[in-house]
Amino acid sequence: MKNKVTKAIFPVAGLGTRFLPATKSIPKEIMTLVDRPLIQYAIDEAREAGIREFIFVTAKGKGALEDYFDAAPELEKTLRKKKKTELLQALKATDMDSGAIAYIRQREPLGLGHAVWCARRLIGDEPFAVILPDDVIAAEKSCLSQMVEQYAETRGNIVAAMEVAPHEVSSYGILDPKEDMGKLVSVRDMAEKPDLADAPSNLAVIGRYILEPNVLNRLHDLKRGSGDEIQLTDAIAAEARENGDVYGYRFDGQRYDCGSKIGYLKATIAFGLARDDLRDELSDFLNRTVSTRQAAE
Ligand code: G1P
Repeated sequence: MKNKVTKAIFPVAGLGTRFLPATKSIPKEIMTLVDRPLIQYAIDEAREAGIREFIFVTAKGKGALEDYFDAAPELEKTLRKKKKTELLQALKATDMDSGAIAYIRQREPLGLGHAVWCARRLIGDEPFAVILPDDVIAAEKSCLSQMVEQYAETRGNIVAAMEVAPHEVSSYGILDPKEDMGKLVSVRDMAEKPDLADAPSNLAVIGRYILEPNVLNRLHDLKRGSGDEIQLTDAIAAEARENGDVYGYRFDGQRYDCGSKIGYLKATIAFGLARDDLRDELSDFLNRTVSTRQAAE
């Protein structure tokens, strides 16, 4: 098995029902934080971590996502003519090498584990990353880069992890920690979206994984789990129980759940405030809006 992580799977087949009616015609991964689509953040993070091959597991109705990564010669020509250098640069920064992206169709919505398994032939016998673009992580060094460094040291299967509030436990894959070493936690077992009463901890899996090919073999034989879907968590949990080579990694960074409306709004505000060209006016507006509301109450 190769040691270097150069391939990443982006499961983007989900219907995005939480953002209906918008997602009737736009894939949710194209929704923007300020001016970049969610998928662009995921791709940039992967590139920073050394990923060279990008595998998208898509479904019907996701055509706009493929178009987004196409070359845009007409647009570039117009921008060049109008001397819009900055916009041209922003556009160029999204360019992907020919052949760097592969698209696989998930033919049935059978869950995250099934989506990852659909990419098995493109992964072969190599470690690989999985990035869920709903989870946007703002960090000095990208979350996946941190995990790739950890992988170089420990090997095994590494999932991004963070503590969540008790009422959120049933929305995540939850780790059953064996040994807590601070940043790194060795994992005894995992549960997908457990009831709070059954949850082994409040340490949740966030959408970044570095996995070894054995997880794909496990997915092959897996029965449907939580939500009647084939769960990635269940395949990794089997590895943890039988091989003991699974780790949770407490990453540095601020994670936004852009799969939920409130998380998406928070991310929009945070990314807006992080921009030099928007910060002052946006924070004025927020302050004024909050004080007007408070005065009215
Ligand atoms: C998926 C995984 C879950 C993980 C979560 C992180 O769930 O199944 O284990 O904790 O992503 O965002 P989803 O949110 O897609 O239902």
